[in-house]
Amino acid sequence: MKEISAERLEIQQKIKEKIRTENSIVKQKPLAFVETYGCALNENDSEKLCGMLEDMGYGFCDRADAADLVIFNTCAVRENAELKVLGNLGKLKPVKKERPDLLIGVCGCMMQQAHIKEQIQKKYKHIDMVFGTHALYKFPEILDSARMGQKVFSTEDSEGEIAEGLSVKRESFPLAKVSVMFGCNNFCSYCIVPYVRGRERSRSPENILAEVSALAKEGFKEVMLLGQNVNSYGNDLAGDGTSFAQLLKDVAKIDGIERIRFMTSHPKDISDELIDAIASEPKVCKQLHLPVQSGSDKVLHDMNRKYTRSEYLSKVEAVRKKVPDIVLSTDIIVGFPTETNEDFEDTISLLREVRFDTVYSFIYSPRVGTPAAKMPMALDEKEIHQNFEKMLSVQNEISREKNEAYPGSIQKVLVEGLSKTNPEFVTGRTDGGKIVNMKGNEELTGEIVEARITDCKTWSLTGEIIQR
Ligand code: SAH
Ligand code: SF4
Ligand code: F3S
Repeated sequence: MKEISAERLEIQQKIKEKIRTENSIVKQKPLAFVETYGCALNENDSEKLCGMLEDMGYGFCDRADAADLVIFNTCAVRENAELKVLGNLGKLKPVKKERPDLLIGVCGCMMQQAHIKEQIQKKYKHIDMVFGTHALYKFPEILDSARMGQKVFSTEDSEGEIAEGLSVKRESFPLAKVSVMFGCNNFCSYCIVPYVRGRERSRSPENILAEVSALAKEGFKEVMLLGQNVNSYGNDLAGDGTSFAQLLKDVAKIDGIERIRFMTSHPKDISDELIDAIASEPKVCKQLHLPVQSGSDKVLHDMNRKYTRSEYLSKVEAVRKKVPDIVLSTDIIVGFPTETNEDFEDTISLLREVRFDTVYSFIYSPRVGTPAAKMPMALDEKEIHQNFEKMLSVQNEISREKNEAYPGSIQKVLVEGLSKTNPEFVTGRTDGGKIVNMKGNEELTGEIVEARITDCKTWSLTGEIIQR
């Protein structure tokens, strides 16, 4: 297992102290605006950036044009995510012209791609710092150079050794995200992640347990263990042998942590041991996100997903047998190059067969350098959009019907805070991860309450608190 050495982290620590001193003598604390695009792993990376910024004496604001420092932490998984970043970077051009002191940085997955790096270098000259996912731990050094007027392009730094002990600034109390592994070895033919995040690297169990124990001491109630293929955890750890199921059980022993979730699981690595851990360990939530991508064997093969439709269905059956009340969700790609209308109908029939609670669906987006990007398209854009719409309407009905089973039931809900739309309501989640809105005040945040479910919508439930 490769970790960044204490000496290299110590250098960053010293630079943080230097910047902190510089910031302490200016009249007004400089403000940073950090915006995240992409998945929960990226959000966790941003929490680390913000942790480092806080250590360096920065305050925070929620608008780019009010900030002294802007950081975009980017995602490369689909074109629309990239276009949004480029659009927002473009908008900063006049702001930088007006305020040349403004520092602008872009980091994250997009910056691990050579063609994007080039594009930024050529066309976005107002950017001060470009750094990839592997250089995250070096942010203090990068920022220090930029503060001294140097442009920084730091995108290649090792294969991504793990940096332990970075500060993390979490805004998500009582929930905490904990990345337990990084990277992906699967090379699904459409996906950019293995190219921008590198090979699978698991953190050591001791480091993970120490982080979760510290979170429990701070009062956090729920942890979300994160990895691109979180259930492949430990496959790369030499010697130790802790499996993901074992890790779940070890995390569950930590007092104060009431709930454990995890994301994302690859169907090929759903083991009986993992299913047993979900079934037997009360703190492990009865929720599983298991991306299937397609219901057609031909498309699954072309996607290099390494399972067939029937293998996937058997996994779902095995899970439901031992955990009958499991809340299941999945990801679907519509319009993969070799997908015909017939293949698409196989996906529809799979949705009807499994009846997922929630489906996250995406229109296929070609990614530079992936094998699928070179495949000819079977369907045109119009047909793909029609299929996409059809899928949404089929699934929305199923999601709605799934939620209709809840009114009348009593659910344990961990309150996450005030509702964003109605200040008289709080919002929280059931063990299975269903959102519940209930009348209540902010003081309930972090408590697990019993609620009677009174009503349901397609995406959420309404309830009344019957016991604190
Ligand atoms: N590691 C996870 C998820 C990775 S990305 C997994 O294997 O399932 C999250 C989702 O984005 C994927 O599940 C997939 O549905 C979608 N996705 C990835 N690449 C895509 C692409 N090129 N076009 C459209 N959707 C894509
Ligand atoms: Fe991408 Fe496949 Fe890896 Fe998921 S498993 S991150 S979809 S390559
Ligand atoms: Fe996007 Fe990178 Fe996550 S490509 S989905 S932010 S790992």
